[in-house]
Amino acid sequence: MEHILLFLVVLLCFSWQCQCLRQAEFLKTKVISDTFESTKMGELQTTNYKMCLFQCVERSECRRALYCQNINPSNCFLYDEGENCLTSSGNEINCKCYNKVYNCNETGCSCPKGYYGDKCKSVVKDCIEASDKGFDTGKYKLVFIQPTTSILPFEVQCRSGGARILSRQIYSGLPVNFNRTLNEYEEGFGNRETEYWIGLKKIREILRIGEYDKLKIGFFNGSYSNSKQAHYKHVSFGNKTTGYAFSSSAYIGDRSTAPDIMLGSVNALDQPFSTFDNDSTGHACAANFGGGWWFDNDPYCSLANINGPRFALSYGPYGKIIDLQIEIYK
Ligand SMILES: *[C@@H]1O[C@H](CO)[C@@H](O)[C@H](O)[C@H]1NC(C)=O
Ligand SMILES: *[C@@H]1O[C@H](CO)[C@@H](O)[C@H](O)[C@H]1NC(C)=O
Ligand SMILES: *[C@@H]1O[C@H](CO)[C@@H](O)[C@H](O)[C@H]1NC(C)=O
Ligand SMILES: *[C@@H]1O[C@H](CO)[C@@H](O)[C@H](O)[C@H]1NC(C)=O
Ligand SMILES: *[C@@H]1O[C@H](CO)[C@@H](O)[C@H](O)[C@H]1NC(C)=O
Repeated sequence: MEHILLFLVVLLCFSWQCQCLRQAEFLKTKVISDTFESTKMGELQTTNYKMCLFQCVERSECRRALYCQNINPSNCFLYDEGENCLTSSGNEINCKCYNKVYNCNETGCSCPKGYYGDKCKSVVKDCIEASDKGFDTGKYKLVFIQPTTSILPFEVQCRSGGARILSRQIYSGLPVNFNRTLNEYEEGFGNRETEYWIGLKKIREILRIGEYDKLKIGFFNGSYSNSKQAHYKHVSFGNKTTGYAFSSSAYIGDRSTAPDIMLGSVNALDQPFSTFDNDSTGHACAANFGGGWWFDNDPYCSLANINGPRFALSYGPYGKIIDLQIEIYK
């Protein structure tokens, strides 16, 4: 149970006639210390966390509230998307993050994107169902999905055709550190609104359904028409015992514009995922490259340093990269 720390029910009566018509429920979730940029929908000061949640209930589009007690009166940040809250290092002790599970008033209930039904008890299984149910799955919108193999729902960025973005790095603003432990790569890290790695366990759950088994690594330099894309067919990952070993039947693409970094001369086929604290290569590839990846057991490690520091790719063979995305599609 990675996210559920405390269940909190808030019943709020706003009407002075005392008809308790508004009802909302919040779930306390993780506050993660990280470098981040986040798109806030509101920032205000409140004297306690309940007043902060009250502000979130007032706005049906509010999904998440971060209450930080480090100044007086305290800061209350409201967001319209997102799962966990990110704050600068050291502040996590004084901050609390609450996710709104549902919000009901006299006219109806609002649920997080992907949730539906009575008091938002059901969750769509994938991006296609989300779009069928009328959720806004437009470009980079966050939607909760719960694949049939998954115990808990999690947020993904849906794309057209039901594709899901698994990892994203935007080469602007404060960088999220990708030089992380195996455990962090398993669970996921970063900020879904900017840069993140969704987590090996979640990617595996999506792949295990079997319908979506193509992987796309897209490099964007500012315009989609100039994006370079490497595609892989029949992709699967091993289990934890095999180190989430990468497998794919073929590369699809134009090698002259989008090099085959997974099945090329230095390749990821059947290689476990390596991190600085769990490196299977014998060449300390993850520590030297500064990020986790399916590195080859070869002194070259990989033909591209996808999860390495920004400068490693930004002037590399792909030209100047400003947005790097890894996607799973049908
Ligand atoms: C009541 O909830 C609906 C659905 O979430 C929302 O569209 C509407 O703005 C809310 N009305 C008030 C008065 O908050
Ligand atoms: C993106 O790449 C294309 C083709 O390589 C190039 O013509 C264009 O100028 C590049 N754009 C930027 C912003 O670097
Ligand atoms: C992990 O995968 C390997 C290879 O497919 C298999 O032999 C093993 O039983 C699996 N382990 C678990 C715990 O599922
Ligand atoms: C790497 O992780 C695996 C699976 O969690 C574990 O069995 C192994 O001992 C770890 N190896 C190192 C070098 O930490
Ligand atoms: C990645 O982190 C490890 C552990 O902190 C460190 O030893 C290594 O030098 C780092 N790599 C880079 C390229 O920063």
